[in-house]
Amino acid sequence: MSLSVKDKDTIKAFWSKVSSKAEDIGSDALSRMLVVYPQTKTYFSHWKDLSPGSAPVRKQGITVMSGVAEAVKNLDDMTGALLTLSELHTFTLRVDPANFKILSHNILVVFAIMFPNDFSPEVHVAMDKFLSEKYR
Ligand code: HEM
Repeated sequence: MSLSVKDKDTIKAFWSKVSSKAEDIGSDALSRMLVVYPQTKTYFSHWKDLSPGSAPVRKQGITVMSGVAEAVKNLDDMTGALLTLSELHTFTLRVDPANFKILSHNILVVFAIMFPNDFSPEVHVAMDKFLSEKYR
């Protein structure tokens, strides 16, 4: 499912509204993922504290959102821009692809909670398409 010119405009406009809160978005999305889908905890079992908002969860949330920010900057070549990151997740970390859908879902939930006025159905569909594009 490729992004239309209109999708790209919608993604850029929404991101410009929410990006200053990227750290909170990432922390909450990752916290929710680990609570609601506990099978995702296996990848982070080397952390001391996996509870919502803990230091490592927050740090990883920020890290994830830096990847999302990089993707927004490269909407015309996401595959190329995220190739190294993608290979890391596939071959080194061996993350099951199903987990990307789970994390994306949690990011959408947080968008809806934090930005109820800006997160229109049109924005929702564009951000869903964007987050479903390959990170792997
Ligand atoms: C939106 C999708 C995602 C993005 C943008 C993303 C981004 C990143 C980034 C930027 C890093 C750091 C890479 C480095 O150190 O060079 C990372 C590490 C990592 N990611 Fe992801 N990631 C995503 C999804 C996932 C998912 C779904 C999982 C598993 C449930 C996952 C598991 C990990 C793990 C285990 C690490 C290493 C963390 C550590 O050892 O402390 N990632 N990710």
